[in-house]
Amino acid sequence: MGQMSKTRIKYICSNCGYESLRWLGKCPECDSWNTFTEEIIETNKRKPTAYKGILNIKKIDEIEGVEKNRITTGIGELDRVLGGGFIPGSVILLGGDPGIGKSTLAMQAASRINDKVLYVTGEESTAQIKSRAERLKIKSDNFFVLSETDLNIIIASINSLAPSLVIIDSIQTMYRSDLDNSPGTITQIRECTSQLMEMAKRNQVSVLIVGHVTKEGFIAGPKVLEHMVDTVIQFEGEAHHSFRILRAEKNRFGSTNEIGIFEMHEEGLTEVKNPSELFLSEREKDISGSAITASIEGTRPILLEVQALVTPSSFGNPQRVATGFDYRRLSILLAVLEKRSGLRLSASNVFLNMAGGVKITEPAVDLAVCCSIASSLTDKVVAGKTVLIGEVGLGGEVRSVGHIEKRIQEAQKLGFEKIIIPQNNMKSLKINSSMKILGVESLTEAINNAIK
Ligand code: TYD
Ligand code: MG
Repeated sequence: MGQMSKTRIKYICSNCGYESLRWLGKCPECDSWNTFTEEIIETNKRKPTAYKGILNIKKIDEIEGVEKNRITTGIGELDRVLGGGFIPGSVILLGGDPGIGKSTLAMQAASRINDKVLYVTGEESTAQIKSRAERLKIKSDNFFVLSETDLNIIIASINSLAPSLVIIDSIQTMYRSDLDNSPGTITQIRECTSQLMEMAKRNQVSVLIVGHVTKEGFIAGPKVLEHMVDTVIQFEGEAHHSFRILRAEKNRFGSTNEIGIFEMHEEGLTEVKNPSELFLSEREKDISGSAITASIEGTRPILLEVQALVTPSSFGNPQRVATGFDYRRLSILLAVLEKRSGLRLSASNVFLNMAGGVKITEPAVDLAVCCSIASSLTDKVVAGKTVLIGEVGLGGEVRSVGHIEKRIQEAQKLGFEKIIIPQNNMKSLKINSSMKILGVESLTEAINNAIK
């Protein structure tokens, strides 16, 4: 059958993968500027032919599940974020800023697997990998290293070694020699990923793809990559802090709320099994504007400090800044505090911070956010050893939240003495606790009880 193959030039947004026939300054899809790059596109137009093979239809009961085949690393924080380990045949994208510790995490994970692992590096020499391995004290008979960037050679190596996990560090350095584009372009990143995905499914091997994040905070190369792979995990942290948070942004095989917490040491990453202790360790006791809450991240409760600073605004336009918390949610809570609890905030600057650099999206932290603001405004402290939990509604009512037992247990474990929770959660509470548990119906009631 005749096959038409032709090449032509297209312009592709390097952020989201939007394609255009001419160069554009601003991407109509994702609104970023100056992201269009010229790429050569090969178009193969083939007529579809009627399929003559055997159809592979199965009864649902006959299909084998994936859960029991998961490959675990024994690094609990990583396994949990993955949903219980690597699934054979799945492709995981590990994103993060350069220098955050992606290669370190990948190597530590690789060294803990009881089966062959192939670590493909396109960024470092094998000698550099060896020196990192020495630093991490990695000793493993199953750890294979390949320094290569040509994907065809990589695929051939995978076929001959037959590992159960392949690590590609990083996708930006890989290229397919059958394409004219240079490594790091969208076409290369996309085509390499799609070939790796196809190989993963065919060989039933897990592939961990490392990708750098651009300044704008996107996984470099296109957003399309995120749509292609099964799982996207993001490694975050600040350069001047030693702890790192691993977050599942997308997971076809698990929950996306899960986070894993690590600390970077001289000899690599260690797991933080008691994050509450870590997040509360730097807390200054008895200062105004601070409130403790118990948030559920995935399946695990974490105690966190919410910090607020309320200052008079000398100009007509008060500033509102939220770090680790939704800005719009903050605006709503400020309005509720003003209208329902009579706090004068419209002429104040409000700065809100989730201590420790975490990002919280669940409404159960509302009550602590409101109390930290009230505490800073009145310059009175939230009574020591009190934890606040509850969603705040527009009427100033405190609404019930999920997983209340887990939150209470975590607070008790860390030595808190009093916990303020929604009254509606009190009814179904099945817990024996030595802590004083107080149910509240309204925000005002909570503030009056917490701030003395
Ligand atoms: P690396 O894993 O190379 O980061 P990425 O692959 O994300 O670019 O690690 C980067 C930093 O981590 C590097 O600046 C050195 C530091 N580091 C440690 O502090 N301890 C260690 O054991 C290792 C291996 C690295
Ligand atoms: Mg690296």
